[in-house]
Amino acid sequence: MAFRAPPGSEAVDHLPPTPTLHPGLVAILDRLTVAAPTNIGFPAAVDIDYRPLAPFLRYMINNVGSPAEDTTYPAHAKDLERDVLAWFATLFRAPAGWTGYMTSGGTEGTMSGLLHARTAYPRATIYASSSCHYSVPKICGLLGMPMVQIPAGPRGHLDCEILRREAARRRGQPAIVVATIGTTMTEAVDDVPRVHAALNAAGIRQRWIHADAALAGIPLALTGRHDFDLAPGGADSLSISGHKWWGTPIPCGVTLTRRPQHRPGQRVDYIGSRDTTITGSRAGLAALMLWHAITRHDPAGHRLRVDRARDAANYARRSLAVVGWECWRNPDALTVMLRPLPKPLRPRWPLPIEQGWSHLICMPGTGREQIDSLVKELGGCG
Ligand SMILES: Cc1ncc(COP(=O)(O)O)c(C=O)c1O
Repeated sequence: MAFRAPPGSEAVDHLPPTPTLHPGLVAILDRLTVAAPTNIGFPAAVDIDYRPLAPFLRYMINNVGSPAEDTTYPAHAKDLERDVLAWFATLFRAPAGWTGYMTSGGTEGTMSGLLHARTAYPRATIYASSSCHYSVPKICGLLGMPMVQIPAGPRGHLDCEILRREAARRRGQPAIVVATIGTTMTEAVDDVPRVHAALNAAGIRQRWIHADAALAGIPLALTGRHDFDLAPGGADSLSISGHKWWGTPIPCGVTLTRRPQHRPGQRVDYIGSRDTTITGSRAGLAALMLWHAITRHDPAGHRLRVDRARDAANYARRSLAVVGWECWRNPDALTVMLRPLPKPLRPRWPLPIEQGWSHLICMPGTGREQIDSLVKELGGCG
């Protein structure tokens, strides 16, 4: 039976279902197919074809335990995970002695960074902007650490003057700061050198900066912005999501630190490896996917993906302005802020809405025709 896209959907390239695919799964595939052309409210690249990895779906690939050691479980891909980690350590200028591992996503990466931070400074206060990801207060609660939210500025940035004042009030305590490198809603990039300056001015020397670089850290670093990374003067730990900039079909991420704090994890005979990660079993398939993504391009190709995505975002901002729809964009952002769409358009264009604003995100693979289609429908509503 040949697969037919449902009426009204645009052509999306995917493997045809096998004749044995359950109708319940076919229904999901239909839903994904219909949603794809207007799915521009959440960040997931769509330009990398992961289907060549289909043969690996025959195996349960488990990178259980430390990425530094192979395991007694034979179906692992830790060798590729180590390559992936080394690639990100180079991108984020981690000095010798760094450690890290592939996580289930950005949240686990931030948790790992903050665990290192808590080990270094158990009595610290954690500071983050009111625009930080919702996982940050959750992680502070799980770690049993006090958190102070610093009001964000109008475009979503951490206000370093308020940080200075709040830190000065707690001068006796070490400070852990979560700097968001691309906030979820406006893609604001917190200024790590100014965070250091604020803590200097507050008289706090014992500090740890975690860069939550879930989405924007990768395109920024690929195009030469490094002030938030793991080199001196930057962050102590950093995390990214793999399913955003790379669009891996499985959520995943990477976490790195240049100041490893944990004692070497307990050796577990059963897995033949040390236990140095938050979760036990980890998706080996995700390691294959990230490896596949980063080895597809040379440095110029990686930068081209960034340039194209930023061009698309600029195009979207200009096109919305032409039809008089209020919008704006942080510098270099892939995210375009716009007033919420008229209600009749919202089911077809599911863009998130927060505090009177909505956004669209131009990821690698977002096409101008998608922007044109949205702007045309907006024009039709006017
Ligand atoms: C800034 C930021 N941090 C962390 C996360 C959490 O990432 P994940 O969903 O991969 O756990 C997100 C996800 O949207 C994010 O935007």
